Amino acid sequence: MSKHTPESEPPHDNEPLREHVFDGIQEYDNKLPNWWLMTFYGSILFSIVYWLFYHTWEVGLSPEEKFAQQQQAFAAQALAAGEDEVDGDRLFELSREESMVEAGRRAYTSSCAACHGQELEGGIGSALKDAEWTHGSRPMEIRENILDGIPAVGMPPWRQSLGERQVNAITAFLLSVNPDLVPDEEIED
Ligand code: HEC
Repeated sequence: MSKHTPESEPPHDNEPLREHVFDGIQEYDNKLPNWWLMTFYGSILFSIVYWLFYHTWEVGLSPEEKFAQQQQAFAAQALAAGEDEVDGDRLFELSREESMVEAGRRAYTSSCAACHGQELEGGIGSALKDAEWTHGSRPMEIRENILDGIPAVGMPPWRQSLGERQVNAITAFLLSVNPDLVPDEEIED
């Protein structure tokens, strides 16, 4: 049986020992390898740069922000490529175009949701997701009601502030989320 005693010869006897002793154990005063130090300092540097880039200066975008930005560009592109003049069938076609519906959803959220509700459930204005339409449920009637407003009941006009393209997009959005809105030929007079 070999017994380890403090007197036994250290294997590297010409290397310096550090001064402190714990329970009779001493450490060599070895340098850490450079590759280890580089990784260590490198990761500290990386975390500082990362923090500044994403959190302090907010130059970098998080995946959610990137996605929102792409969606916005997508919607803006659809609007730019859209047309002012439409008919009922065209509005239904637009209601199946994802980017147009997204453009409409955005315009709805910023201009209409205050009165008609975030989920179109109604409020000051009527609910827009049900089958009850007081002022007309044909796509072109809805479009006209948004463009010119319904002054008698307090629905403001949007022709000036939003323009026809955005109103087309909003109408397409409404058609896409309300299954009770159907093409003209399916409406019984
Ligand atoms: C200031 C509040 C207000 C805002 C903002 C507003 N509306 Fe209205 N809207 C009303 C009111 C009030 C009515 C009439 C409700 C009624 O007839 O009882 C109405 C009616 C409507 C109707 C007719 C509903 C039906 O039953 O025939 C549509 C469509 C409509 N609004 C769409 C929109 C859209 C789209 C926007 C956004 C561009 C918008 N409204 C913004 C208040 C508002």
